[in-house]
Amino acid sequence: MTKTIVAPSILSLDYANVSEQLKQLNESKAEWMHFDVMDGHFVPNLTFGPDLLKGFKKCTDMVMDVHIMVEDPAFFSDVFLKAGADILTFHYEACKDEKEVRMICEEIHAWHAKAGVSVKPGTPISVLDPLLDVIDVVLIMSVEPGFGGQSFMEDMLEKVRYIKKQIVEQNRSTLIEIDGGINADTAKLAKAAGVDVLVAGSYVFRNDIKTAVESLL
Ligand code: DX5
Ligand code: ZN
Repeated sequence: MTKTIVAPSILSLDYANVSEQLKQLNESKAEWMHFDVMDGHFVPNLTFGPDLLKGFKKCTDMVMDVHIMVEDPAFFSDVFLKAGADILTFHYEACKDEKEVRMICEEIHAWHAKAGVSVKPGTPISVLDPLLDVIDVVLIMSVEPGFGGQSFMEDMLEKVRYIKKQIVEQNRSTLIEIDGGINADTAKLAKAAGVDVLVAGSYVFRNDIKTAVESLL
């Protein structure tokens, strides 16, 4: 079995206790830090801007996994790449067409970063089949994007199995990441289906951080 990466989502960080939580996160086995950007339009919530990403980058050596849930991914991908994103994931649904998805992925590569494309629960995963040559990370939403703390949608595992098969058939090295409702139980199901990267927000930050991260591996 391939190695699992845990990406704690700092959407659920306790912002009254940031330095202590970051210390624990840095001591944990988590390798990526998942940074959710919401613009209040693509999803009904508002979160972080690029200055916050710059600040977090100074506090950790973790890979900065930036997930932009915004209406204008072409504009905001540049903003967050400039601020230090290592992986920039945008939404398929926010793009006009396949050509735009490909163009944004190529732009991300020009910054020497990894390109991720995410699909909401209602979007068929097969839309990504013809794009796997430019996608480094497929991010499957297992909740409706917008908020932490929602329940895992188990039927999204079918998408994981489908895209895993495509990746193998096309002989790609694309990683599969899942986001929403991940805890020790749902992590097992996700890994069995073929997930490489587990995003976990409330589960990690509402428990002992180091223990929670280990329970996902
Ligand atoms: C939701 C975000 C997630 C969120 C997951 O739109 O993309 O990254 O933080 O939170 P949990 O793990 O609590 O479901
Ligand atoms: Zn996310």
